[in-house]
Amino acid sequence: MTIRAIKRISQSRPALEGAGVKLRRAFGFGDTSDFDPFLMMDDFRNDRPSDYLAGFPWHPHRGIETITYVLAGSVAHGDSLGNSGVLGAGDVQWMTAGRGILHQEMPKGDPLGRMHGFQLWANLPSSLKMTAPRYQDVPSVAIPEVIDDDGVSVRVICGDFWGQKGPVDGVAADPRYLDVTVPPGKRKVLPVETYRQAFAYIFQGSATFAGASAPFGALREELVGGEETLVRDTVGDRSLVVFDSGDEVVVQAGDEGVRFLLVSGRPLREPIAWHGPIVMNTQAEIRQALTDLRDGSFIR
Ligand code: CO
Repeated sequence: MTIRAIKRISQSRPALEGAGVKLRRAFGFGDTSDFDPFLMMDDFRNDRPSDYLAGFPWHPHRGIETITYVLAGSVAHGDSLGNSGVLGAGDVQWMTAGRGILHQEMPKGDPLGRMHGFQLWANLPSSLKMTAPRYQDVPSVAIPEVIDDDGVSVRVICGDFWGQKGPVDGVAADPRYLDVTVPPGKRKVLPVETYRQAFAYIFQGSATFAGASAPFGALREELVGGEETLVRDTVGDRSLVVFDSGDEVVVQAGDEGVRFLLVSGRPLREPIAWHGPIVMNTQAEIRQALTDLRDGSFIR
C-alpha cells in the first residue's frame, strides 16, 4: 500500500457569484488538471442572509454536472424543463446538465440564518457532453452512513466505500464523494485507488494528513513569500488538500476531531474550453453554445 503524499494545501478564497452571493471557492477556473474530472468547488457556508439571499437566478449549464450538498438551510431549485424542488439539510442534488439546462438556485437560511453547503462541478467526457439532462435528487435519509469501530463515520454520497454504495449512479467519471468525520485524536487509513485523482476539503475541526515522505506532524520546508520556511501539514476549516498518487489517504484528527469531504474520480484527460457555467472541449463548441443561447435553441 502506498500513502498518498500531499501535493498542495491551500485555503478557499472569497468569490462573488450569481446575483451577488458571497462564497468561498476551493478551486476552479484556470488550470484544474490536478482535479480532473472535477472542475470547481464552492463552499457557500454563510451565516449572514444578506450575503446569499440574492441567490443564483436563471443561468445556463452545458457539458458538466453540478453536485449540490446542503448542510443547513435550503436551496429551492427550478429549471426551464419544469423540474423543481427544495434541497434541505443533508440532501444532495446531482444534476447532469448534458446538452443544456437553464435553471435557478435560490438559497434560504434556517431559523438561525445559516445557509451551509457545497457545490462541486464534475466534467463530462466529450461523448456525454450533449447527453440528455438528468437529475438525481437524493434526500438525506437515502445516503448510507457507515460507522467503524473507531467511531469514524462516512456518508457515502456517490461511489462505493467500505462495502456501501452511494445512491447516485450512472455518472461517467466514476466519482466518489464522501463526507468523513473522524473523532478527536483518531488516526485512519482511507483507501483511494491509484487511478483516481483525489482531494479533501476540511470544514470542521483540524487534522494532519500524512504523506509517504512526511510523517505525522512533521515539519517540512515550503516556500512562503519567497522564503524557505518550516511549516506543519496541519489543516483546518476551509483547507483544501490535494493528494499525489498512491492508493490510500491517512488522516490523524486533531483535538476536536475533523470533518471533511473526500472526493476522487477517474481523470478524463480531455481538452477543456470554458465559458462560465458552460464547459466543452473546443472553442467552436463554446461558440455553438452561445449561438444556441441567443437563438433560443439551447434547450432541446
Ligand atoms: Co447552476
